[in-house]
Amino acid sequence: MKPVVLAGGTGSRLWPKSRAALPKQFLSLTSDKTMLQDTILRLPADKMELPLFICNEDHRFLAAEQLRVADIDYDSIILEPVGRNTAPAIALAALRAVQQGEDPVLLILAADHLISDHNAFHAGVERATLLAEQGKLVTFGVVPTEAHTGYGYIKSGDSVDEIGFKVAQFVEKPDLATAQQYLKSGEYYWNSGMFMFKASVYLRELSEHAPDIFAACTNAMQNTNKDMTFIRVDADEFAKCPDDSIDYAVMERTSDACMVPLDAGWNDVGSWTSLWETSQNKDTSGNVVIGDAILDGVTNSYINSEQRLIAVIGLDDVVVVETKDAVMVANKSKVQDIKNVVNKLKAEK
Ligand code: GDD
Ligand code: MG
Repeated sequence: MKPVVLAGGTGSRLWPKSRAALPKQFLSLTSDKTMLQDTILRLPADKMELPLFICNEDHRFLAAEQLRVADIDYDSIILEPVGRNTAPAIALAALRAVQQGEDPVLLILAADHLISDHNAFHAGVERATLLAEQGKLVTFGVVPTEAHTGYGYIKSGDSVDEIGFKVAQFVEKPDLATAQQYLKSGEYYWNSGMFMFKASVYLRELSEHAPDIFAACTNAMQNTNKDMTFIRVDADEFAKCPDDSIDYAVMERTSDACMVPLDAGWNDVGSWTSLWETSQNKDTSGNVVIGDAILDGVTNSYINSEQRLIAVIGLDDVVVVETKDAVMVANKSKVQDIKNVVNKLKAEK
């Protein structure tokens, strides 16, 4: 099985730590390793072929250096001149594998997840392999705990060989009312954003359901430039590729999807609040404090100081993140709106 690590996202909801120059997958947010390093280090090494990484051209040295210092051996780092979302990124990896004359089972991994129970994760990967080898597109389903609108939802269908379930319905990022209904029904799982399938199976489904993406990626991989471990795709051809995620382009449309339930302490480290939730280091008032801070009458808050002392008095449920050039203060329930701030900043530039 060949791991494929998607590391081209922007992670804008973790501003001001996550920046265009240093997106969250290159930060150490949940351990002393970066999220990129942890993505590989948590895998069962003996079952894995050399991984492929896909990231933006701008982050190539960051990625290569982080892999080097963690002693992670790999196949190559495919560089995207522009981000076109996950459906094209996975297509480039699948095409690379096929170009090498192989048709491996690909384990598609996001570089921004936290998984606390590695044994349960390994068992899930093993089960998924059985289905992927039969030509299925496998996702890992997590039992939902809230009506989160930032996730895909999977309705489980009939059992497949008692290994997993057929996907009866896949709905990417439903609105709140729909998510609430799914949660209440008890019939839906969250899509964890990790997938497993043979390279050829993904390319077949992509060519059927998103032929424009398939064509642009095929053309972009016909004229690549290899420079050390970096593979540069044809920038003009890749620029023609539509922007879409695997979830919308393939998973919502394919009839060959299966789901393997995963109970491995999975968390998408998507926001400061999810970092607060998953932290094992809360004080007796429910605060997570990283760096230098004085709190007085503060509860259930997340305080992260990089350089300066932060003093907070008499507040509940706040997030304060301080970096060299920016300080962000937010209500803990509004951290999704950091995206709006980042968009405003981009517009002002
Ligand atoms: N190479 C590359 N290029 N990687 C990308 C790109 C791109 O253009 N865009 C995103 N990624 C990477 C991100 O860095 C991340 O590791 C992964 O792909 C997933 O992208 P996100 O942008 O974080 O997706 P999401 O969280 O909104 O949604 C996905 O994950 C959810 C679970 O975390 C979907 O699969 C949802 O269905 C799922 O519930
Ligand atoms: Mg994500």
